[in-house]
Amino acid sequence: KNVVILISGRGSNMQAIVNAHIAGADIKAVISNRPDAAGLAWANERGITTAVVNHRDFDSREAFDAQLQHTIDAYQPDLVVLAGFMRILTADFCLHYQNRLLNIHPSLLPSFKGLHTHQAAIDAGCKLAGCSVHFVTPELDHGPIISQGAVPILPDDTADSLAERILSVEHSLYPQAVADFVNNRLQIKDGIVTNQQPAS
Ligand code: GRF
Repeated sequence: KNVVILISGRGSNMQAIVNAHIAGADIKAVISNRPDAAGLAWANERGITTAVVNHRDFDSREAFDAQLQHTIDAYQPDLVVLAGFMRILTADFCLHYQNRLLNIHPSLLPSFKGLHTHQAAIDAGCKLAGCSVHFVTPELDHGPIISQGAVPILPDDTADSLAERILSVEHSLYPQAVADFVNNRLQIKDGIVTNQQPAS
């Protein structure tokens, strides 16, 4: 399956997906909206095709998304993976990639959508936090949940220490979700994802 990964920054989730060498996942390109994204250099060094669609070059979200879609579609993706991609996407874009667009969000959805999720979980007095991989729908951080990982919130946690603990879970959760997608194990019915793991 052809896979395109979108990043905006360091791209540690992208690295985890690449390093997992998922059978059946052909990483066609890594695309960033920021030319200085550290993850681009990492991908380039490994011979992965990279591209930049700089959101600052566009007057509107619609124009940016249209160019982004055009760039992505050149790779004929079966799956598009948002890995720390920090732009809100238009409904048209989300619908174009319906059921083949994944995101990872650093909270246990449906709690703490949007930004600053780690501080929000600490401030709410939560004892557990985590991350969620989900299909992307036009409503931000609302799509069908594929998988989640949980970690404890410890008494001395800061947003940074909690983010680090969650990130290490992200790095195993996201490659597994991509593997499940490319192996056709994920089914969505009425907004609920079921995962048909092979019999062991
Ligand atoms: C991760 O915490 C991810 O959950 C969030 O943004 C961060 C991206 O980190 N959406 P990286 O670029 O993958 O290292």
